[in-house]
Amino acid sequence: MKMIYMDNAATSWPKPDIVYDTILRTMKYYGANPGRSSHTMAIEAANILLYTREMLCQLFNAQDPFRMIFTYNTTDSLNLAIKGVLKNGDHVITTSMEHNSVIRPLMHLADMGVETTIVPGDSEGLIDPSDIKRSMRSNTRLIIATHASNVTGTLMPIESIGKIAKDSGVYFLLDAAQTAGSIPIDISKLPVDLVAMPGHKGLLGPQGTGVLYVREGVELRQIREGGTGSQSESINQPMFLPDRYESGTLNTPGIAGLGAGIRHILNKGQGKIVSHVVNIERLFLNALSQIKGVKVYGPKDMKHRSGIVSINIWDRDSREIVNILSRDYGIATRGSLHCAPLAHKTIGTKEQGTVRFSPGEFNTLDEVKACVRAIGEIGYKIETRSI
Ligand code: ALA
Repeated sequence: MKMIYMDNAATSWPKPDIVYDTILRTMKYYGANPGRSSHTMAIEAANILLYTREMLCQLFNAQDPFRMIFTYNTTDSLNLAIKGVLKNGDHVITTSMEHNSVIRPLMHLADMGVETTIVPGDSEGLIDPSDIKRSMRSNTRLIIATHASNVTGTLMPIESIGKIAKDSGVYFLLDAAQTAGSIPIDISKLPVDLVAMPGHKGLLGPQGTGVLYVREGVELRQIREGGTGSQSESINQPMFLPDRYESGTLNTPGIAGLGAGIRHILNKGQGKIVSHVVNIERLFLNALSQIKGVKVYGPKDMKHRSGIVSINIWDRDSREIVNILSRDYGIATRGSLHCAPLAHKTIGTKEQGTVRFSPGEFNTLDEVKACVRAIGEIGYKIETRSI
């Protein structure tokens, strides 16, 4: 049974061949520590880092490659942004559609005197920016919103949210975990101050890579100190970017793979990849609307969707359906609560979770048809009590 991979929202797979080749080549031929010496291989390794920063700037239309900070994943980027901005006495506004990588750091900071307001989404997961505006206080320092929910795929009105932040003089942190690479983001136009993103999802790099974009003028404390290969005569952390935030040996092979992933997107054309996923999503949703017992979550309007198809079949636990899809049909999906309990509470799936299909560039329409057939069969078996 050939596997149908529909779990790109967790990690994109497969990667373009160039990504695998680049990682291997980097380890074999440029495996030195970047920025730690002037020998040829160390310089080559440092050039690889710069290349990936430049690829990021090209894709996101940003100017300064040194404002693209390498991290280990989106969670790491979010922790740096949240803990680097907020201090005792600050107020932060976020939404009920956030991942635990936003909510858990905020709950931790509550013990240190940071107050959080969580604005609820509606039944489709959509946030109303006026609720954010109404929650502003004199001590509000930061607004955090996901670009698209990892549970429902709901695309948030981030331009309006960013404008509220800008007009009020507070920072806006965008969690682009589900959109970086797969939905166009123009950093030069969007009112964002900090953008957290994974390397291993839409950007097609390997796991263990993440990025935090820090706009010029944003005052962000580092949350980790250590060796940077720069200003080694000093016992204090360098204050220039990216070194201030990048202590310790970086994941050079992974970052090289990330650069190759972005190169692939630029070469192929992001628009082409986006249209392919939108076509898949449309076909998927149309077909599911014909199947008895299937409930689809997220917005009805395609312009508020980002490619995720999250469903339930009758009242069955999502984990059970994920197991059946894998065991009997070779279809890889994700179930349960997707590390976002408040989002599930918002859409009413706190107990059942959802079965999430997250297609990507390499899925075909035939694969979608196979998924629809499998869902139809499972639904029928549940209805007739044969499973
Ligand atoms: N946050 C990732 C997901 O939604 C891992 O699956």
